[in-house]
Order: sequence, then structure tokens, then C-alpha cells
Amino acid sequence: MMGRGIVVVGSQFGDEGKGKIVDTLSDNADIVARYQGGGNAGHTIVANGKTFKLHLLPSGVVRGKRSLICAGVVVDPRILCAEIDELSALGIVVGPSVLGIDVRTHVIFPWHQALEAASGSGKKIGTTGKGIGPAYEDAAARTGLRFGELIDSQGLVARLREIAPSKQRLIQGVYASGVDDGGAPEMDVEKIISAYSPLGTLLAPFACDTSHEINSALRGGKRVLFEGAQGTFLDKEFGTYPFVTSSHPIAGGACTGAGVGPTAISEVHGVVKAYTTRVGAGPFPTELADGVGELITQKGREFGTTTGRRRRVGWLDACLLRRSCELNGFTCIHITKLDILGGIGKLKVATSYALPDGAVTDIAPADTELLEKAIPNYEELDGIPDFSGEEWRAAVDGGKGNGFNALPTNALAYVRRIEGILGVPAASVSVGPGREEIIRAKD
Ligand code: IMP
Repeated sequence: MMGRGIVVVGSQFGDEGKGKIVDTLSDNADIVARYQGGGNAGHTIVANGKTFKLHLLPSGVVRGKRSLICAGVVVDPRILCAEIDELSALGIVVGPSVLGIDVRTHVIFPWHQALEAASGSGKKIGTTGKGIGPAYEDAAARTGLRFGELIDSQGLVARLREIAPSKQRLIQGVYASGVDDGGAPEMDVEKIISAYSPLGTLLAPFACDTSHEINSALRGGKRVLFEGAQGTFLDKEFGTYPFVTSSHPIAGGACTGAGVGPTAISEVHGVVKAYTTRVGAGPFPTELADGVGELITQKGREFGTTTGRRRRVGWLDACLLRRSCELNGFTCIHITKLDILGGIGKLKVATSYALPDGAVTDIAPADTELLEKAIPNYEELDGIPDFSGEEWRAAVDGGKGNGFNALPTNALAYVRRIEGILGVPAASVSVGPGREEIIRAKD
């Protein structure tokens, strides 16, 4: 019997709470596979009173599930080793029986971060500074160095000596062109060798062929969760280009990133934050610059897990979500952070946009500039109660067997409205950061 492949995708601009949903779903999974992105991601899981902040490790590690970093990811071994150490300090051991890293995964080196800094994309796009874009550039240019080479200590030294001088020249060139006024950093190849060789040795036991492992598991009837990072509108092709990341967070990215065919995917779960947030530059039609925005920012602790940056905040945008449904083919959604909207008063949802030529559309336009100019038309919904954490927990407990009927009336109405607009059922509603603070449609 063929197993089940379930993709979990951020439906908005990232930071929807995918870590928590993947953690919840991984209870029933055999494998959790990260298919794209890198240390730019920040997945938070709160379990047993402890908070785990993951950047590269798949969220399955927290439950000790087989967790795979697939070929579509770009790995910074310094971040990965630090993360493994941090988890170990929290009592979670990530050994080779838990973690597998595909030998085809591209590796991030100091020149990738230096090139990102030199390009000014941090200022223009608001990139995270983790070297993600330049690493994917190298992958596409066929000049990258992959995990299989990182763990081959002799080959690594030769490759680094070959690559480093050309990267140094490239960085000097970018700096000399005046894009950035700081001095070009020195790429000391011997220092890089002495930092990366031991990391390669440390990580060698994790090397594997994740594509084959996943396909074999599926053939054996197992459940595989494909964990997306970032979100739909940060997709390189279908996001708000150029204000995007350099990979494919959308569901299709699971196939190309993890090396499985489309027939391996049985379900696509979209994670929908009950409002919208965005980090970095780019269009955001429903952005709030008022007291409500400030309230959501503070109550929702909308500050980046990876960079600590303040996230931009706005109302839920059904036009973006309709586009997201098309791009991902959601079979269900998980609504997160609904508790944060409690006590705000009337809630707004953008259901259409007025465009500069007078046209009205109910789906986010493909053109980034047009999206920038779109004026949202809002539908108003009744506010939901300003419950304390305790009251939400009581509602969750009361929900056992009742599903969403345990939600306060207006909260349920908000959920039903989102389902109605998107034509996709909600599988869960999250009302707090903890693993237990979630109401499932069916218990
Ligand atoms: P990069 O991925 O560092 O190249 O950044 C490109 C854009 O994606 C920037 O606007 C970042 O703020 C955004 N971004 C990257 N990773 C995440 C994430 O995990 N959550 C939210 N935004 C992200």
C-alpha cells in the first residue's frame, strides 16, 4: 500500500506558525522532510514548557521523528551544528538515526553572506543576511559545493582552495562598484578550511540519499510530512518578485526539493495566520499602520525568530489567500493565532481589491507593481472575545469531541467565513503557542 505524502505550506508571507502545525501533525508521521530554504527560516515549537526555535532542522526532531534535510535546502553547517548543540542542551539528542542530510544539498560558505551584504539586498529587499540568495545562485550557476563534498575532507580542501580566490575577486568587485560603502571582507581560505573541515567530519554520519529514503518509505506505506519554510508570497516565481526568497516554498517545491513525483503528494495543508504579517520590503495591501496594528504586533509578539526584526502587520487578505489556494492546491487549512485577534473590536477581511484602472478583482494580481497599488475592499466581521490564555485553554479542553463548536460564537464565525471564502475546510484552529492550544475540527 502506498503511504501518504502531506505537504505543509505557509499560505502568506511566512511566519504563519508552520513549526507548531508540523509538530502537531508529526505525531502521526514517520518522516518529516524540509524541502527548501535554509537558516533564514524560524520555526517555533512550544512543548512541555520548553520553547524550541529551529532554523534548519525539520520540526520533527522535537518528537524524535526521522527528520530529513532534502536536496532543495541550502545548509549552513555552522548554523546546523549550533542548532544541534542548542537542542541537546534542551534534552533533545539529534543523532544520525534521527537526522539525515541529502548529499546533494548545497552548502553555505562565508562568501555567500559577504556577497549578500555587498549586493545591498538586505536594504533593498530585507533579506535575512544568511547567504541564502547567493548560495542558490551558485547552485543554479553550477558552481556550488554540495554536502557530499563538505564531508569528503581531502576533496573539500582542494575545492575550497580552487573556489575561494574567485569569490574574493567577486566580492572585491562588488564592493569596488560602490554598492556598499564598507570594506570588502577578506576570505581567508585557510581559516575557512579550518572552520569547515571539522564541521564536515562532524556532519558526515548524517549523509544520505533523502529522495530514495522518502520514496522507499512511501512505497512501504509510511506517512511523510513535507515541511515548507517561508511562505507562498516569498516564492521565487510566484511571490511578490523581487521581494521574495530564492527558493520554492509552494507545494510544488516539495516535489523538486525532496525528489518525489507529484503522485507522492496526497494532501496539501495551508497554514493561515488569522491576520497577515510580512518581514522585509514588498507589497502588503492590508498593512495596518495604526493602533490596531501595534496591538497585534505586541500581543502576537510579531518579531522575527531569525533576525529579531519587527514584522509588518495587517488584516487577513482573502485575495492573497485565493491566489495561495490556486498555487498550492490546499486540501485543508490550519488557522493560527486566532487568539491574538481577541478584544480588537470589529475585524476586517479584504475580500476584493480596487485597481488603479477602476477594475475590481477578488484575486491578488500577478503583477507586483499592481499589487502594490491595489486598494483593499473590506468585509467586517464581529469581534471575538479577549480571552485569557486560561480561558482559551478551557475552550480547547471543552472542545474534545465537539471540534470547532467549542470556539466562542464569533471566533467560529470568523473561521467559517475563511473556509467559505476559500472553499477549503479548516482542519485546526490554534489559540496559543503551546502544543496543546489547538482545536481540531475532528477530535
Ligand atoms: P532571504 O530568504 O534571506 O533571501 O530573504 C528574502 C525575503 O524573504 C526577505 O523579505 C525576508 O524577510 C523573507 N524571509 C526569509 N525567510 C523568512 C521566514 O522564514 N519568514 C518570513 N520571512 C522570511
